Amino acid sequence: MTPPASRILGTGHFLPPTIRTNADLERMVETSDEWIRERTGIRERRIASEGMVTSDMATAAARSALEAAEVSAAELDLIIVATVTPDMPMPATAVFVQQKLGARACPAFDVSAACAGFIFGLSIADQFIRSGAMKRVLVVGVELLSRVVNWDDRTTCVLFGDGAGAVVLGPAGGALAADGQPRGLLAAKIQSDGALAQSLMIPGGGTAMPLSAEVLEEKRHKVFMRGQDIFKVAVKNLYSATKEALDLTGMTADQVDWICPHQANLRIIDFAASKLGVSSDKVLMNIDRVGNTSSASIPILLDESIRSGKVRPGDTVAMCALGAGISWGGAIVRI
Ligand code: ACO
Repeated sequence: MTPPASRILGTGHFLPPTIRTNADLERMVETSDEWIRERTGIRERRIASEGMVTSDMATAAARSALEAAEVSAAELDLIIVATVTPDMPMPATAVFVQQKLGARACPAFDVSAACAGFIFGLSIADQFIRSGAMKRVLVVGVELLSRVVNWDDRTTCVLFGDGAGAVVLGPAGGALAADGQPRGLLAAKIQSDGALAQSLMIPGGGTAMPLSAEVLEEKRHKVFMRGQDIFKVAVKNLYSATKEALDLTGMTADQVDWICPHQANLRIIDFAASKLGVSSDKVLMNIDRVGNTSSASIPILLDESIRSGKVRPGDTVAMCALGAGISWGGAIVRI
């Protein structure tokens, strides 16, 4: 295995303070706390306040990651924001983050790979560092899904939450863990398959279906999902994403300390973990408190786990995600 080129220098996250519980949802749509918990594992999710926008959450998470990394905004060479809920179609949310951080002029762009967006961002950042073109890269995963969810549609509105997570990546520089193993991004593999593109989408509001009174009336500018299509492919591909990334490192699942899966659904995670032969105490989880925050889910969970002391320097973490597109990916990192 080639030595890692990049390393996570610091992590951060932001969750809006407002909590929406399953009991709150019982008052909004025909659902029950029991149904939501049994089918998804979710008890509550965070909801951004009215004046808050995606780049506000991204900036808060980024500030926290920069502080942990001891890197100033002025040192950033590249800003990548993974999101499917941008502040607006143009310009990129990444430039608003750049503005709010007071970062200097550098490339700043968004990546749209839904729930797999953070792993796509990580992989892109690694390429720039590997080539020697960049030294300090900010990767943010952020979603404000509460504003694109149809709150009358019980099949989707119970699933999602708002939040942001961020990492600062820098050159691995030969850093070693206490056991002499190299620290850094050991492998990443990203993939997409458009065959199921119509199974999870926001159909209205783009060039295919410009906003009109009819689109708004029919709520075609909100999330539409064929849940069972996604469920089936998620179970299969979360496993293969992790396995393929592990294969690139020559490691097996039992050699990693932690699995950090996209928090889509407890049942999807349990299936994938059991297929990998990993015990549940190795699987990081916060879906009960946070719900599905799409691009933000992995960096939020990673930062919470590092800050709580659960994941320690030198630990190996396997991340995996799948989402709309469908797009999916896996990454193995020694923290
Ligand atoms: N409360 C109560 N009943 C509900 C709700 C709800 N919130 N939502 C659906 N139901 C009903 C349905 O109407 C249906 O009723 P019927 O039998 O009378 O027709 C019944 O529950 C079963 O519906 P299914 O869709 O078959 O339920 P399923 O067991 O597939 O669970 C779920 C639905 C949780 C969405 C599941 O398909 C799933 O998790 N899919 C993955 C989707 C996902 O995670 N998407 C997130 C984005 S992609 C990603 O992050 C991987």
